Amino acid sequence: MAGLTSFDERHGDGAARPAISVIGTGYLGATHAAAMAEMGFDVIGVDVDPAKVAALSAGIIPFFEPGLPELLQKHVASGRLRFTTDLAEATALSDVHFICVGTPQQRGSNAADLRFVDTAVEQVARALTHDGVIVGKSTVPVGTAARLQRLVSLLAPAGIDAELAWNPEFLREGKAVGDTLHPDRIVLGGASERSEALLRMVYAAPIAEGTPVVVCDLPTAELVKVSANAFLATKISFINSISELCDLAGADVSVLADALGHDVRIGRQFLNAGLGFGGGCLPKDIRALMFRATELGAHSAASLLQQVDEINMGRRQRIIEQAVEALGGSVLNRRIGVLGAAFKPNTDDVRDSPALNVAAALHLRGAQVVVYDPEAMDTARRLFPTLSYGESMTDAARGADLVLVLTEWTEFIEADAAELASFATSTLIIDGRNCLDRAAWESAGWIFPQTPAAVDAQQQEIVGSRTTRARNIPAIAAS
Ligand code: UGA
Repeated sequence: MAGLTSFDERHGDGAARPAISVIGTGYLGATHAAAMAEMGFDVIGVDVDPAKVAALSAGIIPFFEPGLPELLQKHVASGRLRFTTDLAEATALSDVHFICVGTPQQRGSNAADLRFVDTAVEQVARALTHDGVIVGKSTVPVGTAARLQRLVSLLAPAGIDAELAWNPEFLREGKAVGDTLHPDRIVLGGASERSEALLRMVYAAPIAEGTPVVVCDLPTAELVKVSANAFLATKISFINSISELCDLAGADVSVLADALGHDVRIGRQFLNAGLGFGGGCLPKDIRALMFRATELGAHSAASLLQQVDEINMGRRQRIIEQAVEALGGSVLNRRIGVLGAAFKPNTDDVRDSPALNVAAALHLRGAQVVVYDPEAMDTARRLFPTLSYGESMTDAARGADLVLVLTEWTEFIEADAAELASFATSTLIIDGRNCLDRAAWESAGWIFPQTPAAVDAQQQEIVGSRTTRARNIPAIAAS
């Protein structure tokens, strides 16, 4: 291949498929690499962690993601997908280099930590042996890609045409495989005619399915990603603030959300009120956007996001207060069963998990907390080794003075409520995700603490009918 640098020169008539490297093999990179192999490309995944590379090479995904192990094993076996720690080798063998490394929140700041992205782009640019396109998929603050584009042209070896484009990722954990194979849009930022053609070849399968392609400049591509997450976060905090109003007025927020969702301009998704959002993306992305907006002087965007974050964090506090009040003012030495540790169902990810945050806060107040999660027990144990863990829902409910449902796993929603009630000392339950069929659980003997409006309504009903029925239902304050 000496002397041949362009894709067409190296691959002949243009019918050949570009070879792909994927730098960073976490949630995003591992899924992207396996999906690219499924789309028919030769893919090399690169990671600095030899243990991760060894696991992936053996067909083992070091986290829970439905459908991903099967896809990985299929393509490791077919030889289309392999993993290495040798970035220079992977770069030399590939034409399109996807950057999928993490951009965590910096310690002590809301800003994103860009060290991993900077290093990955720099190393690929230096290692190029022929023309190539470096494609950023990581979530970065607006302005980063333009800076990296300048870096790439400085560092790429002379005579090699190196480009940088931005192609943000919108996959959801728990649905990562489907989201990657069938994305709802493909955003190509800052691509030249040549790199756009190459990327259209890479995404030929979803494009043929009708997935829209949005071609734009680098800052727009960077902002599409963080604005999407900011909008989703805003939608959740909106319904959570309306839910506070519902509690005070005696309205049902779930029915209200259904009614809102029938309006196609609004839509029903991301209107589930409850404990709020967590995970490795929404919280850090809105904070990084807030930070960047302040830097750029976009103060109204920054203050909107600040409010969204505050409403969201307030939800965790509210559940803690509800638990304290339901137990008569103190949780000290009271047994609390916590159902759920993952930040949402169908994942074992506990990064910034509202469920674990609440469990840990109650533990700190002296409660004997027993946590159960269908998939996130190991990740939760690693993060909060001092909490107690049960092996089943029954373990969590056994002897409990109060049960909290903090992640809406199907296992909890479909549980035998009457059987579970038989294990609890007191059948008090707080549904932190509004996911249970309340009437069914009540008829199985569970007691949901009441909001002040509901208590008022009951008292009026009692006074009105002159009954003296004793109701042993604790009242809780709305936030
Ligand atoms: C999110 C975005 O949805 C993806 O599009 C994006 O690609 C990804 O971040 C990312 O930036 O990588 P993810 O973090 O997997 O995906 O989780 P979501 O499904 O968005 O849920 C986030 C949180 O919101 C969860 O804690 C969930 O319980 C909560 N949520 C969601 C609600 O509280 N209410 C809802 O109605 C929906």
